[in-house]
Amino acid sequence: MQITSFKQYEEDYKKSVENPEQFWGEVAQNFQWRKPWYKVLSWDFKEPNIKWFEGAKLNITENCLDRHLATDGDKPAIIWEPNNPEEESVTLTYKMLHESVCRFANVLKRNGAKKGDRICIYMPMVPELAIAVLACARIGAVHSVIFGGFSAKSIADRINDSQCKLVITADGAYRGNKQIPLKDVIDDALIGCPTVEKCIVLTHVRTPVSMLKGRDVWWEDEVKHVNHICEAEEMDAEDMLFILYTSGSTGKPKGVVHTCGGYMVYAGYTFTNVFNYKPGEVYFCTADIGWITGHSYIVYGPLSQGATSVLFEGIPTYPNPSRFWDIIEKHKVNTLYTAPTAIRSLMSFGEEPLNGKDLSSIRVLGSVGEPINEEAWHWFDEKIGHGKAPIVDTWWQTETGGIMISPIATVTPTKPSFATLPLPGIQPILVDENGNEIEGNSVSGNLCLKFPWPGMLRTTYGDHERCRQTYFATYENLYFTGDGCLRDEDGYYRITGRVDDVLNVSGHRIGTAEVENAINMHAGVIESAVVGYPHDVKGQGIYAFVINPEMHGEAELTKKDILQTVTRVIGAIAKPDKILFVSGLPKTRSGKIMRRILRKIAEGETANLGDTSTLLDPAVVDEIIEAVKKQ
Ligand code: PRX
Repeated sequence: MQITSFKQYEEDYKKSVENPEQFWGEVAQNFQWRKPWYKVLSWDFKEPNIKWFEGAKLNITENCLDRHLATDGDKPAIIWEPNNPEEESVTLTYKMLHESVCRFANVLKRNGAKKGDRICIYMPMVPELAIAVLACARIGAVHSVIFGGFSAKSIADRINDSQCKLVITADGAYRGNKQIPLKDVIDDALIGCPTVEKCIVLTHVRTPVSMLKGRDVWWEDEVKHVNHICEAEEMDAEDMLFILYTSGSTGKPKGVVHTCGGYMVYAGYTFTNVFNYKPGEVYFCTADIGWITGHSYIVYGPLSQGATSVLFEGIPTYPNPSRFWDIIEKHKVNTLYTAPTAIRSLMSFGEEPLNGKDLSSIRVLGSVGEPINEEAWHWFDEKIGHGKAPIVDTWWQTETGGIMISPIATVTPTKPSFATLPLPGIQPILVDENGNEIEGNSVSGNLCLKFPWPGMLRTTYGDHERCRQTYFATYENLYFTGDGCLRDEDGYYRITGRVDDVLNVSGHRIGTAEVENAINMHAGVIESAVVGYPHDVKGQGIYAFVINPEMHGEAELTKKDILQTVTRVIGAIAKPDKILFVSGLPKTRSGKIMRRILRKIAEGETANLGDTSTLLDPAVVDEIIEAVKKQ
């Protein structure tokens, strides 16, 4: 199923559009099924109702583990690089990983988990995180991984939304020179989570934690009570595999649902093709498993293809900004898949951290999560790839399950800051505000998809109507991505950013309404409006305009208090970079906040604010402009 020439890409693409069922049916033959499908695809974007590989039975862990054992059992599946470079790295072969997953799957069963149960995972980037994810899949339980940067309240909201029965966590996590007390955060969350019966705790940082009798058990003790034999649960292709919460333009994150068969096929197919993965190579994706990139391209994609995947616990700048380059040299990494924010941050340290580092193993580079600016693209190309490693700028989303628009390494061309061409099976179209297709080249519009692909979301957990409203109701018969996009003179796609009220801060997706809700929870705050502004490293920064709160003392302290509230309500990732106290917000006569104006002010483009005559109180705009200047 690996594409080896541009001609083959064109042929495969054509076939995938003309006869999608045949195309995906053939791709799916490269996976192991317990029972074949009777229909490749049924779909209806109105409902929406999407089914891939109907009637087929499988277990994704048999594809990620068991099927490699006979030939590649001793091959490294996961190489774990700890936060502290002085500590030894750990290699888990496919045999070892299989054994650990089966053993932990038995621990889950011993603690009452069964097929269909939802299990929340809140863990550091350690091999046990991948083991926990796969163990859920082994027994047919639905995992809901929550990124380690989210607060107790965010965790509780997510646990309650999907009614998780079990939580898997660790005593704590290391992030650079910081320690994060994961179990403490979970303890706070669980006060408000009546559905959780058991909490399994991994010892990692050895910080003291409270263990509640009857609820909390240690990972290390539990694995002693079970053996390592665990037959995989037989799953229907359309059974739920996992839920992953993501932000949208409303205040409440939604649980994106992916199912077993289609997701597996799509993650595996895109992994092997986009990165042009060659057997035996070492692949390093720097994302966190708490995000979709980690799900699809640290765990399921690479393992389904028998690849060797590096799992890194730490951050790019600890103990110094050479860390990525040291890891590449140490593990002879062939593919590095990272985020523009990381690239920009490392670029800012100059070339010194690269001195003497052997990056000759690098063959393919990848970028994900946000638009990559040309400067960062060229630096990545020249300094890391030495002009010889193609950069795959991969556009996709939590909802798409896998990469959608991207170069195919060594096969299709690259172009700085362009995600370039759709992968086979992907049919993007650009539409105007009214949903009319914008045809031809050198055009811009809202990016939609007009045909289903196996990795797409099926619903949003517990609220199908919300899924319909968010993705399928804006334009008839189209999936709307929420992204703006340019198609250039060569027909190459360049993603220009969100067209809804969603920010992309360091590649993390954050809804402005969520941040506003959090700020408004601060005592004394009457109202706030949050917009994004260009940030040199993070891509976008968060700018909060807050109507003068009551202050206990002085403005600077009150700003810090507000940041503390946001950290408590959402997590540190959503903290505004700038807060400005104002006496009013620009509103229309009907009371709607004119964010367009605030965005322009935050971007420093005050000369051309457009029509402000419909504002309730135009004077407020001048006041805000003056206040921004003084900041
Ligand atoms: O705006 C697009 C941006 O990230 C959004 C999806 O965020 P999330 O679901 O968190 O998934 C991130 C990892 C796949 C998109 O709607 N985005 C993602 N990749 C790119 C991108 N923007 C520009 N270029 C990309 N390569």
